[in-house]
Amino acid sequence: MQKFTSADDVESIPLLVEEALQLKADPNQSKIGHHKTLGLVFFNPSLRTRLSTQKAAYSLGMNVIVMNVSQDGWKIEFEDGTIMDGEGQEHIKDAVKVISSYVHVLGVRTFPGLYNREEDYSEKVLRQFVEHSEVPVISLESATLHPLQSLADMVTIEEHHIKKPKVVLSWAPHPKILPQAVANSFLQWIKKTDAEIVMTCPEGYELAESFMEGIEITYHQQRAFEKADFIYAKNWSGYQQYGKQLPVKEDWTITEEKMALTNQGKFMHCLPIRRNVVATDGVIDQSIVYQQAKNRECAAQAVLKNILEHHG
Ligand code: CP
Repeated sequence: MQKFTSADDVESIPLLVEEALQLKADPNQSKIGHHKTLGLVFFNPSLRTRLSTQKAAYSLGMNVIVMNVSQDGWKIEFEDGTIMDGEGQEHIKDAVKVISSYVHVLGVRTFPGLYNREEDYSEKVLRQFVEHSEVPVISLESATLHPLQSLADMVTIEEHHIKKPKVVLSWAPHPKILPQAVANSFLQWIKKTDAEIVMTCPEGYELAESFMEGIEITYHQQRAFEKADFIYAKNWSGYQQYGKQLPVKEDWTITEEKMALTNQGKFMHCLPIRRNVVATDGVIDQSIVYQQAKNRECAAQAVLKNILEHHG
């Protein structure tokens, strides 16, 4: 693997899932990262991604350095060819070249602004990391995708050993509209498995056509839940009315009554989750969200190991 920014960077998803499961069973089997350093750069907050990726790197024998650039760094300028006589103190090109000279693998988290769809979908920040880094780049969640989360989700689904599971991606309410990265990415990865996939959301909350292509969509949440094996809930902004909180008439919170329509379905969410808004306490407390969060560790370890094997 040259980089890890999307499912498209992965040669074989089943093999990567298998590798992650093997690493989960024996996290100390490889010290391929001995004397190597992982750099983690965060433009946005994180709990799971930060801790699981650090732990994964330590298990491979790596050192880790972490920087919260928005809080601790100089103010970054992202535009090319700009005269830097304003707020920006350091150009992204210079920052990435310098950071990547200290490390062997570089991870970056960069959320979208949710104001300018074209700019967010151009992956302006992640693209500049990939372009200017001297070392392989891994996405710790970008403007449009969250591949480390999706790999952990595929591992979690695989652990339940259900042949051709029915998997439902359901929109859920949230006080502040959220990015599309987790939902886009989940569809991108789950489409490459044998799962039957149904997406359900209120009208106006459809995702980009490229991610929904080939996916059954229904605006009836309860109909979608019937006989489902997995319910993956997430809030996201619609692609057309980008970044807008649209009025929704029905209650889209995931409740125990709705889960009762499923085939003893397992509730999934990437976390953090707003309890009793996205899903009720009863749903979350019976769910597999902690299994998903735990699998972030072996997912990150499999990605780092694969990258180190190709960039020894
Ligand atoms: N799911 C996830 O990426 O969690 P964090 O935002 O806490 O890293």
